[in-house]
Amino acid sequence: MTSSLLRRKPLRREPDGERRLARTLSWPHLVALGVGAIVGTGILTLIGVGAAKAGPAVILSFAIAGAICACAALAYAEMATMIPVSGSAYTYSYVVLGELLAWIIGWSLILEYSLVVSAVAVGWSGYAAPLLESLFGFPKALMQGPEAGGVVNLPAVGIIVLVAVLLLRGTRESATLNAALVLVKIAALVVFVAFALPAFEATHLEPFNPFGFSKSVQADGVERGVMAAAAIIFFAFYGFDAIATAAEETRNPGRDLMIGIVGSMAACVVIYVAVAVAAVGAVSYTRFADSPEPLALILRELGQPLVAQYLAASAVIALPTVILAFFYGQSRIFFTMARDGMLPQGLAKVSANGTPVRITLFTAAIVTVLAGLVPLGELAALANAGTLAAFIAVAACMLVMRVRAPEASRTFRAPMPWLIGSITILGCGYLFFSLPATTQLWFAVWNVFGLVFYALYGRRHAVAAAG
Ligand code: ALA
Repeated sequence: MTSSLLRRKPLRREPDGERRLARTLSWPHLVALGVGAIVGTGILTLIGVGAAKAGPAVILSFAIAGAICACAALAYAEMATMIPVSGSAYTYSYVVLGELLAWIIGWSLILEYSLVVSAVAVGWSGYAAPLLESLFGFPKALMQGPEAGGVVNLPAVGIIVLVAVLLLRGTRESATLNAALVLVKIAALVVFVAFALPAFEATHLEPFNPFGFSKSVQADGVERGVMAAAAIIFFAFYGFDAIATAAEETRNPGRDLMIGIVGSMAACVVIYVAVAVAAVGAVSYTRFADSPEPLALILRELGQPLVAQYLAASAVIALPTVILAFFYGQSRIFFTMARDGMLPQGLAKVSANGTPVRITLFTAAIVTVLAGLVPLGELAALANAGTLAAFIAVAACMLVMRVRAPEASRTFRAPMPWLIGSITILGCGYLFFSLPATTQLWFAVWNVFGLVFYALYGRRHAVAAAG
């Protein structure tokens, strides 16, 4: 029993026959996939949620979350180039830490990827709804979830269906389209900074840190503080891990994954801090806190309605790249876990163009329901919980492998691994406990459910059990 929970998957086992994915991607696709996955609802919408939790000190929240994510990205790059097969943190954990922890991490990744797809679809809807209302007279009640006073968030459901169709047409086409849309998104953020930064007023930064550093429950019962905001803003920084899930479809994984992960992460940290400083300096944070489209609102406050419309239109056109990248990652995690026998094997069948069709359809069904009904902040917080668990596991894998196999070949070696690994593990742990208490509870419930499934199914059917 104990040995089955600790059994490990052998390194670099080549998958066979119809359950192998086609190698069609190289590093420009991966950098585009990375930036496409990272820049999204986090910077465009959750910046407002973060400002409500930390005031102007949300700039610090960005810096802290970014620094922790940068360390995690280095650990990811080392593990992704050492174990370049699909499954990312799940596969690393299976090879390094054993089956039980791998299951927990895989289960966390399923939560992360599903909820990111749903959360970004809701963020997309925040920018799309005003356009749909003014252009087509679309009723508000059908563009907001129940919490916001509506019935169902139909635009969020619609955009997920559209992206699912794109994915079913094949990986290569989707990644190329993604690269074009990434440029639209970056241009919009650069334009935002160009208009907002000249309006910077130091008085908007006072008081700088109204709610304190650590998460604390305020008089109105809401949890706030720089770290409470960082735990939400964290959402804005991840996505590079979606690149690692594409490892098996990469032509030269050793070089391509390292450039893809580290390059896209570094670019995004620079852009975000610039956007955060520009936003908080341009108007009082109270004006855009909790807005469904904060950056457009700031531009309107600055007397730039046309630029605001341009930004909203860019978000509407380009945010689907984030949905695409996480949807892609989600189907690959499912694919890998099913191939390992942890989930029903029938799900792992791929079509002639290399797409796992059943998993894509199954994922679409679940994430559309969530996007239609659950509010953005809750989706993002729970997605973060799953991601934080995965990042802790990846850093642990890196450190264990440095001890267990110090001489093994690594295409990319993280600098100062013990420092980087410790910052990732402790930082992600601190962020996890800075999430809302209800999120932590939901995460625990999700894992209890997962462990029951593992005990009844995965443990017996795991391919490793046979060999
Ligand atoms: N980092 C991605 C976003 O901000 C998940 O939308």
